Amino acid sequence: MSKPQRIHEVVKFPDPVLARKADTVTDFNDDLAQLVEEMFDSMYAAQGIGLAAPQINISKRITVIDVSFKERPEDKIALINPIIVDRDGKQVEEEGCLSLPEIREKVTRAAWVRVQAQNVKGETFEVEGEELLARALQHEIDHLHGILFIDHLSRLKRDLVHRKIKKLQKNGEW
Ligand code: NI
Repeated sequence: MSKPQRIHEVVKFPDPVLARKADTVTDFNDDLAQLVEEMFDSMYAAQGIGLAAPQINISKRITVIDVSFKERPEDKIALINPIIVDRDGKQVEEEGCLSLPEIREKVTRAAWVRVQAQNVKGETFEVEGEELLARALQHEIDHLHGILFIDHLSRLKRDLVHRKIKKLQKNGEW
């Protein structure tokens, strides 16, 4: 019998775990495989297409992505200790984050990236992505470095976002 899945709550900005550099994963055991399944379940429950472990208060280099949200099985990717090994081009698109609900801003990203990572068994693999997948890979790997998409905005735009969040907090809506 499989263990019951656990939905983790997604922490919101400005929780300090989101600004911390996550630790490298060294143990590729059943606990890791279980955590990855819980991350997928938590991501789907929050209606997201990407989730990084720091967002559930676990400061480890783990992220899960599914840009088609269960439509295409091959889009479901778990990346352990991912690094961007190559990038090309430029895209500017609107981005959001489960840790920054209601905030959406245009962010400049590479148009294409190649990422090297390990799977839950510790085997190294590579994934290449463009458009939405390239964006998701860069966004989620940023989380593992303690970087949020709003950190890529101009000072002026970031100040406006911070002001909006303060207002939401004041109204008890954050
Ligand atoms: Ni995010």
